[in-house]
Amino acid sequence: MSFTQAPEKPARLNRSELAVPGSNPRFLEKAAANNDVDAVFLDLEDAVAIEAKEEARKNVIEALGDLDWGEKTVSVRINGLDTPYMYRDVVDLLEARTDRLDLIMIPKVGTASDIYALDMLVTQIETAMGRKKRIGFEMIIETAIGMMNIDTIAGASPRNESLHFGVADYAASTKADTTQIGGPNPRYSVLTDPDADGRREVHWNDMWHYAINRMVVAARAHGLRPIDGPFGDFSDPDGFTFHANRAMVLGCEGKWAIHPSQIPLCNKLFSPSNDEMKKAYAILDAMAAARAKGQGAAALDGKLIDLASIRQAETMVAKFEAGGG
Ligand code: GLV
Ligand code: MG
Repeated sequence: MSFTQAPEKPARLNRSELAVPGSNPRFLEKAAANNDVDAVFLDLEDAVAIEAKEEARKNVIEALGDLDWGEKTVSVRINGLDTPYMYRDVVDLLEARTDRLDLIMIPKVGTASDIYALDMLVTQIETAMGRKKRIGFEMIIETAIGMMNIDTIAGASPRNESLHFGVADYAASTKADTTQIGGPNPRYSVLTDPDADGRREVHWNDMWHYAINRMVVAARAHGLRPIDGPFGDFSDPDGFTFHANRAMVLGCEGKWAIHPSQIPLCNKLFSPSNDEMKKAYAILDAMAAARAKGQGAAALDGKLIDLASIRQAETMVAKFEAGGG
């Protein structure tokens, strides 16, 4: 291990994170009453029309004070730093009776200075108001400049807890050839060479692979949770499952649900399965036996395992236990 280590962040289950438009009080009530979801973010940004910004802010502040949010993590997505709404979002939110608030979600983060500015504002209000709980930050990486500066953004404040991949805005910012919110594009594919019978196949590729992997690396290097963002087609659970699975395999800890039907899918897909758990425990047992014989490596089911396998298995067990397994 390097002598440079990322400090531990507050442990939070973040398999499912439900997006809730702040402009709709009925959705806010339903979100508070949902005890399956790990986290919710109450949206003041892109799900709220310009004309409804002030009303949404008022609804969200009232909902934070009045509703019972249970055990879940509660976040508010504020407007971007380039809008005239952001400062009031933060000031009104933190000067009100909103002790239940855990996190602020910052959209379209572009540079580490964006986080510095927010940290300064939040710190001043927290101190002036005598707020006891320190608010954490979750940051959406969804622009070309944000992706370019992702490492310094991730390390910009001790408040930082997670990075999120905002696929829709990222597509717009990078001028990618799609108008969908997430999912594949048939044109991002390759044609295989002909086989013995001259047959060729089209293989679709994952056009978001680089972005998600890049975010996972930056997040993990700074001890943050990497979270995959939205999958817009809420009537396609199979598409959602594939989309979530490949983010999970790369190391993401959870994914947004833009519809309540996606919550149980997230919770299942981002919890290790019983088979994975059995395998993790078998690795730990085999390595304990190897260590007792003074060996640093062993064979399990005809495959090499070593000290790194212990770390992989322990990571799996920690995920399982965090999910109540
Ligand atoms: C989320 O905010 C996105 O732009 O995908
Ligand atoms: Mg966005």
